[in-house]
Amino acid sequence: MILVTGATGHVGGAVVRRLVSLGHDVVGMVRDHRAAAKRLPSGIALRVADYEDASALAKAFADIDDIVLISSDGDANAVTSHHANAIEAAAAAGARHIVFTSIVDVGDQSPFYFAPVYRDAERRLAACGVPMTILRCGLYAEFILDHWLSPGRASGELLLPAGSGRVAPISRDDVAAAVAAVAANPDKIAGIHALTGHLALGFSEMTAIYGETAARQIGYRPCSAEEYRSSASAQLDDPWPFAFSTLCASIAEGRYSRVANDFAALTGREPESFRDFLRRTASAAKT
Ligand SMILES: NC(=O)c1ccc[n+]([C@@H]2O[C@H](COP(=O)([O-])OP(=O)(O)OC[C@H]3O[C@@H](n4cnc5c(N)ncnc54)[C@H](OP(=O)(O)O)[C@@H]3O)[C@@H](O)[C@H]2O)c1
Repeated sequence: MILVTGATGHVGGAVVRRLVSLGHDVVGMVRDHRAAAKRLPSGIALRVADYEDASALAKAFADIDDIVLISSDGDANAVTSHHANAIEAAAAAGARHIVFTSIVDVGDQSPFYFAPVYRDAERRLAACGVPMTILRCGLYAEFILDHWLSPGRASGELLLPAGSGRVAPISRDDVAAAVAAVAANPDKIAGIHALTGHLALGFSEMTAIYGETAARQIGYRPCSAEEYRSSASAQLDDPWPFAFSTLCASIAEGRYSRVANDFAALTGREPESFRDFLRRTASAAKT
């Protein structure tokens, strides 16, 4: 029996659907049955728990063999304790294996707001005594599109403090495909793997590809962290202006430029290119 947390979310939901289609016994962990009914195929077994509730996690993880732990999001302190609660509950429940979605930049010197959060989770996983697979994810293609490229349409400019840094975006569907491949073969795939796209692109290249696929040209203008934060603070609540500006600092330092071939090794195919992702998304938006 495989339990997938974050099952109402994009990645978790896609992992559930993939594992079900492969014939596995799957349980989705959700916070709200009604949201689950809207977002998951009918007939999926559900358990309700919040990462904040240790006793609900203990009940949710009872009699589960393998746990797919989709990382939490939000305030760094809260996310750190969400991951800690889930890892502790998984170990106490006697789980056979945990798959965790981490991030590519967990370096000690990383400026990224979430780097210490994921370092902490990885340290807890290594110490918890349960065999585990950590999948360090690059930036989601959807994140770049939704948070940076699409909002740049109105002004025609993408303003980020990312310098000439490069990233190798990977789509959430591809992340889910790799997570499901690991969850389906937990005995064979252990250790730490990096999930990235097959090509690292600078933001000028990404805006140029966006221009081809979205019929709207936007230009990339590197800016200072201060300029970015003052403009982002008008649109985003805390901690996001700081989180995104420190993410850009990490990108500028080259911490997201690595291209790994782990995705192909795990799934047997190449990840979707950023251009194909943008084409697919643009054509889905028209239908
Ligand atoms: N690499 C990247 O570029 C990138 C970008 C953004 C996020 N991420 C990380 O990747 C994760 C998955 O991404 P996604 O797009 O699938 O996110 P998503 O669609 O927002 O899904 C997040 C899931 O986590 C659940 N969740 C949130 N807080 C929870 C809590 N306290 N207890 C239990 N469940 C909780 C949500 O449940 P509800 O439906 O009840 O809210 C939802 O099912 C994110 O959570 C974040 O950690 C990575």
